[in-house]
Amino acid sequence: MSLSIIVLAAGKGSRMKSPTPKVFHEVGNKPMINHVLDIAFDLKPKIISTVISENLSEHKKSINNKYPSVKFVVQKKRNGTADAVKIALKKIHNIKTKNTLVLYGDTPLIEKKTIQRAIKHYSNKSLDLCVLAMKPDNDNHAYGRLFFEKKKLIKIIEKIEVMENNTQNNSLFNSGMMIFKTKKLLEYIGNIKNLNNKKEFYLTDLVEIFSKNLLSVGFYLCDYYECIGVNTMEELAKTNETFQKKRRKYFLKNGVSMEDPSSVFFSADTKIGKNVRIQPNVYFGPRVVIKNDVYIKGFTHLENTVINSSASAGPFARLRDSVKIGANTKIGNFVELKNSEIKEGVKISHLSYVGDAFIGSHTNIGAGSITCNFDGKNKNKTIIGNDCFIGSNTSLIAPLKINKKSTIGAGTIVNKNIEENSLIYRKSQLIRKKKNK
Ligand code: UD1
Ligand code: MG
Repeated sequence: MSLSIIVLAAGKGSRMKSPTPKVFHEVGNKPMINHVLDIAFDLKPKIISTVISENLSEHKKSINNKYPSVKFVVQKKRNGTADAVKIALKKIHNIKTKNTLVLYGDTPLIEKKTIQRAIKHYSNKSLDLCVLAMKPDNDNHAYGRLFFEKKKLIKIIEKIEVMENNTQNNSLFNSGMMIFKTKKLLEYIGNIKNLNNKKEFYLTDLVEIFSKNLLSVGFYLCDYYECIGVNTMEELAKTNETFQKKRRKYFLKNGVSMEDPSSVFFSADTKIGKNVRIQPNVYFGPRVVIKNDVYIKGFTHLENTVINSSASAGPFARLRDSVKIGANTKIGNFVELKNSEIKEGVKISHLSYVGDAFIGSHTNIGAGSITCNFDGKNKNKTIIGNDCFIGSNTSLIAPLKINKKSTIGAGTIVNKNIEENSLIYRKSQLIRKKKNK
């Protein structure tokens, strides 16, 4: 199908009461706008344009880095959803596509297959306009309501525009997403007036305009949980909750074992292999990859980390800022790893901080040992070779290299490089012999 997509993202988001522009609030640690753009790209349209406001220009870069082909359109004054679409159409008028899909940047949970089904319905029924509709599970919302006459969709009225209760049993509401015949959209969008409470140009008015001009208007009913629009922090929390439920279901279906899924938090980009077990209260921040046969124990917090097969982490482990863990390693309780590469078979079992380090294979780091990676000005690197044994409570003062097969006795402060195969230890120093009483 010849399709262009317009993503609306210029709204104020004033109901969020937050300095962050609304569409950059995150669901599963991924900005809402990125969720929508990913779906837009998956649909393979001819062009995707995104309407942003002037003060979003600084965020443009982050979108541009990830989606270089997105065309930006700036809406200087937030005059409403129809105004935003009108500006976008002007900008892309030279790219002729028969159909235009409008998506909202604050509706991040919509799925590709749902839009595809809606497009199919729109094509099969030869509609000029198809509204993606929904049935919310509560009345606590401000969605526009669909009105019918003789079973025909004739208009959408925004909640703010009706004095009486806008909800009736089985009422249908607007998800915001709509598919148009581009030609008709161009022909009629100029007829929308802003004679309403918000003094905005409502895209939803096109339903009545199309209907009065005897064009073919219809709707496609979608799952409410895919269509939740985020306008408040409460709705953002609900959207995150829904997202987490979906991710948990997805991982369980793929064989990930979780005793208490409801206490495990995933990011949108979390990747988990086969035969992985996750205990309760685990947090997967952005950029985490877990390979096969890994065991993540309770209260572990992971960000930007790759854990290779058959390793275990936790309970109470914190792994962050570019950590790579080799196969068959053991990262135990109260261990923090930061920006480090840990090779296979390493054991760091208790109470350690390892930062800016490389730990060679089969090395053991004893309880309470830490890398002193910060000298007050700079972060320095610690390199430990294969098959080393670092005793408990050792302070490794970086920059430092301990070559392979060395043993460092408990309680040592290591502040110079150690040759391979060395044995370093701190003697118990006798101060004096106590007199017998
Ligand atoms: C809109 C719909 C409503 C629907 C609801 C679904 C209209 C008039 N109303 O209401 O029927 O039930 O979404 O979530 O369309 N935006 C711009 N420029 C503007 C105004 C908005 O780009 O001038 C963008 C926003 O960033 C947002 C989207 O358009 O992504 C929708 O705007 P919003 O203000 O959230 O509309 P709702 O009140 O939620
Ligand atoms: Mg909204």
